[in-house]
Amino acid sequence: MQALFEAARDAMKRAHAPYSKFPVGAAIRTEDGLVHSGCNIEIASYPEGWCAETSALSHYVMAGGGRITDIAVIAEKMAGVTPCGGCRQRLAEFAGPDTRLHLCDNDGVVETIRFEDIFPRGFDGETLR
Ligand code: THU
Repeated sequence: MQALFEAARDAMKRAHAPYSKFPVGAAIRTEDGLVHSGCNIEIASYPEGWCAETSALSHYVMAGGGRITDIAVIAEKMAGVTPCGGCRQRLAEFAGPDTRLHLCDNDGVVETIRFEDIFPRGFDGETLR
């Protein structure tokens, strides 16, 4: 878990968050052991920026995807930060109910929860397929 935490923390250090000054990092681990991380990226047209989890998902997809076992999220200014609503829906596209979500502070994981517990009864795109 330490490696996943460090990947999220390293990603957070690359955040481009000049407007909110709220750097966030996220890291996704798949069952093959690969880790895909990302940071939040803000732009001058504020609503067009995006979250760390979304950046991490982009790297995950580009690397070929796979079953997600663990996700870590960190924000240096908020211990135990959780993914925003939009990112919960995006993560739900690829994560499963049993995916472990690790909430962090600046020193490590402070809480681990099941993805299902943070995103119950989310919109299920299965019927669209
Ligand atoms: N942010 C994330 O990157 N992930 C979250 O789960 C919460 C919010 C970012 C978006 C924005 O760049 C900054 O944090 C403040 O909202």
